[in-house]
Amino acid sequence: MRIVFIGPPGSGKGTQSQRLKDYLGIVHLSTGEMLREAQQQGTELGRAASAYMDRGELVPDEIVMRLVVDRTTEPDCASGCLFDGFPRTLAQAQAFDRILVERDRSLDLVISLEVSEELLRRRLLARGRHDDNEQTINERFRQHHELTEPLVDYYRSQGILRSIDGQGTPNEVFGRIAEAVDSARP
Ligand code: AP5
Repeated sequence: MRIVFIGPPGSGKGTQSQRLKDYLGIVHLSTGEMLREAQQQGTELGRAASAYMDRGELVPDEIVMRLVVDRTTEPDCASGCLFDGFPRTLAQAQAFDRILVERDRSLDLVISLEVSEELLRRRLLARGRHDDNEQTINERFRQHHELTEPLVDYYRSQGILRSIDGQGTPNEVFGRIAEAVDSARP
């Protein structure tokens, strides 16, 4: 299966992707993780992405597309993949659709995780990752609202969107996700 997770910062995309990856036995691709790795390795791509990530802004589409196109041609992605935090802009979603068509593939499901902003802030501040400070969190929320939320309508119009309540324990949320995934299995 090919599944996309969208949701604001702190909504549980990473947490739930880990579980779903084991449940389905498919590869988990987090563009945030891939960018942080590139940053740590000091690659050209990582250096180009750094300033945007530190400010809480989205990294330019060309950089992200380069990362995803390269990774998804690897053999372990052939039977399915879980995309965590990608696509994140309309331009990325449209470019991704073109790539899928070229490869004669399609998305099975897009999961939109919904969590109140108050709870998101609490989760992020409790975690305390490098970009989990008040100022950067505000910008990450702003970018999500402006650039990523339009994807909900984009995928709804394709008939593959499922909105899932991301509040409750990780187990409760996973139960809702597993149900949605089971009913979308081809
Ligand atoms: P990314 O790493 O994707 O960060 P994010 O979207 O801000 O998401 P987070 O990782 O903060 O949250 P999450 O939804 O994964 O929640 P998590 O499971 O970790 O991206 C980082 C940056 O990279 C972006 O700002 C951007 O600059 C760049 N980037 C990445 N992809 C890009 C793209 N496609 N285009 C352009 N730029 C891109 O949970 C958060 C916390 O809550 C954890 O501590 C967890 O333990 C806890 N938690 C989770 N679920 C629950 C629960 N049910 N109950 C209690 N606690 C919970």
